[in-house]
Amino acid sequence: MVLSRVTHSIQEIENWDGSGHSRKVMQNEFINPALFVNNRQRLGSLMIPNSLAVVNSNDTPVTNADGSLALPPNSDLFYLSGVQQEQSILLLYPDAMDENHREILFLREPTPLAEIWEGRKLTKERARAETGIKTVEWLSTFPALFHRLMCESEHVYLNSNEHKRATIETETREARFVRDTQTRYPLHHYERLARLLHQIRVVKSDLEIELIRKACQITDDGFRRVLNFVKPGVNEREIEAEFAHEFIRQGGRFAYLPIIGSGRNACVLHYIENSERCAKGELILLDVAASFRNYNSDLTRTIPVSGKFSRRQKAVYKAVLSVLRASIAGLVPGKTVRTWQAEAEQLIERECVNLGLLTLRDIKRQNPDCRAVRKYFMHGLGHPIGLDVHDVGFTTQPMQAGWVMTVEPGIYIPEEKMAVRLENDVLLTENGPVDLMGQIPIEVDEIEALMNR
Ligand code: GLY
Ligand code: MN
Ligand code: MN
Repeated sequence: MVLSRVTHSIQEIENWDGSGHSRKVMQNEFINPALFVNNRQRLGSLMIPNSLAVVNSNDTPVTNADGSLALPPNSDLFYLSGVQQEQSILLLYPDAMDENHREILFLREPTPLAEIWEGRKLTKERARAETGIKTVEWLSTFPALFHRLMCESEHVYLNSNEHKRATIETETREARFVRDTQTRYPLHHYERLARLLHQIRVVKSDLEIELIRKACQITDDGFRRVLNFVKPGVNEREIEAEFAHEFIRQGGRFAYLPIIGSGRNACVLHYIENSERCAKGELILLDVAASFRNYNSDLTRTIPVSGKFSRRQKAVYKAVLSVLRASIAGLVPGKTVRTWQAEAEQLIERECVNLGLLTLRDIKRQNPDCRAVRKYFMHGLGHPIGLDVHDVGFTTQPMQAGWVMTVEPGIYIPEEKMAVRLENDVLLTENGPVDLMGQIPIEVDEIEALMNR
């Protein structure tokens, strides 16, 4: 196993078996563990001397009665280990005296009963192969070993959800761990692990970009299937089913709840009912994309129900497309997201004047803190994407090479019962932006041709 090399093709990732023998079914099916090894090395290089860090799985979300949802992988735990099994704990202590204590993965011990009900769990061997971590222990040994290492270490990195738009109403497994640890060890120096993880997760490695590209390719296939399928009278939910069929068939999932809004529904930014019939003459806004092995893509396309844009629809569409193109070109390292957004707003403002939505007078008299264009374009131009759709990262700081950003301008006109939004995912590099969705149909002629085949 060559764990230090981090540039592998998707083919190598797919063929990876972690042992050099025939491919086995694995939890993260075929992700090269070099991805996680590299991520741990990056984190370790930022930790202060003689410090340890702990990351926990998420809880399984409960619903009603005895119902529960599928366990959402903890993105930080996955980023550092590739583990997405319940009750897992990762402990990193790069300066530990004993080499075996520098990286320790604690797992729920498989029992025959759990395997009957829930299926196969990670064995120690499989966990070693998938994560590149040598020391794998059962969870029951955690308290004693943790106590010993806490007595050796000076600083402790604990994790919390520091996404600035997170709404946190229930206590997570991680938050319980933080509370218990601080109660038991009140005299340690605690540090915020999220500060470090946000810094490294936002800059993607080649292996991560391969996985995001794969998610984009599945999304592309789903969109082409839908272009073939849509006609007047279809229900929005039938379109959702077409995407689901293609994504799941290819080993992907919905990266987020799909937004499939025809006519006026397209003006509701978080429309997720997807339950109305699409009428001839309307546009449909499709904000639907796949994830692959937990890496996300995020796509929006807007298409005509009948397969042909009206003149007015085409004018609005072309306005948004030109802002998309300019905003992709504007993704350069060193610029702040705020400046990038302001540049796009200026462009959309001009397009809104050309479309007769705003007058020059509206603009002259506007309140600079609430610009007139916000009536027709009221959201952010884009966000980092990765293991989370709205990924972590310090977006007040200048953008860097290695960020993957969505670019999603739109014009929303409820009085005309229509909206157009277009969204692609773009990698920033020192040599200019790389559109990871450049192959997905977007030109008016292309969309019409594919819909009328
Ligand atoms: N699909 C979520 C977003 O565009 O941000
Ligand atoms: Mn989107
Ligand atoms: Mn987005």
